[in-house]
Amino acid sequence: MDKVLPKNISHVAIIMDGNGRWAKNKNLDRSKGHKKGLDNIIPIVQELIDWKIKHITLFAFSTENNNRPYDEKKHLISLLENALNNIAKKTDENNINLSFIGNLKHLPKKITSKIEKLNEINKNDASNKLIIAWNYSGRTDILEAINKINDKNITEEKFADLLMTKNIPDPDLIIRTGNQIRLSNFMLWQSAYSELYFSTKLWPDFNTKDLNDALNQFMKRKRNYGAV
Ligand code: IPE
Ligand code: IPE
Ligand code: MG
Repeated sequence: MDKVLPKNISHVAIIMDGNGRWAKNKNLDRSKGHKKGLDNIIPIVQELIDWKIKHITLFAFSTENNNRPYDEKKHLISLLENALNNIAKKTDENNINLSFIGNLKHLPKKITSKIEKLNEINKNDASNKLIIAWNYSGRTDILEAINKINDKNITEEKFADLLMTKNIPDPDLIIRTGNQIRLSNFMLWQSAYSELYFSTKLWPDFNTKDLNDALNQFMKRKRNYGAV
């Protein structure tokens, strides 16, 4: 079935929170929650693609997540590596371009070169752009942009071009799962007029029906941008 949304929506971002609590509720190790969370990405991204949402950003690891135990970070990086090893065929076949925002310097070279290679796939003609926010901090994004400014009277448009999200429209809708009502340093500049949707579901339990509830809710919102 051809899915058509009644209102244009070009960018949906998801703060995928709740993996640890999902595991804890089942008396499992947090690592099992992260694995289950990773498995949930494919059906959710597929549904967003079916709805023809061109830009999809997934917040996978924040700069502050570096404060977690070494073993948990190591596990998350190994899940990232496995996912990257399996994704090339999928992005190619589905005409998706994959890119990353965030500071990738802490990742091993074998992973960053994989990311660079994947980024080349469908670079100029992708029907969908999947963006992974990894070791991302909204404040760092803004600070690094400030440090690049040359003009004395910079405009909002030019400033946006200095951010990691250059060429990516601001998110129309930001969904956060995991029953926390905050942005946790995600896209602070870019979210100025984003619609926010908070789900009580933990990320591994967030399914396509929950996603459709969020999209439906978005369709009912009236975006004023300060006007009447
Ligand atoms: C989100 O789930 C994944 C990452 C932040 C990497 P959490 O690991 O934060 O899960 P909770 O919030 O502890 O349940
Ligand atoms: C936000 O979740 C970051 C990601 C989902 C990647 P956190 O679990 O890190 O957020 P806080 O610490 O509860 O704010
Ligand atoms: Mg969390």
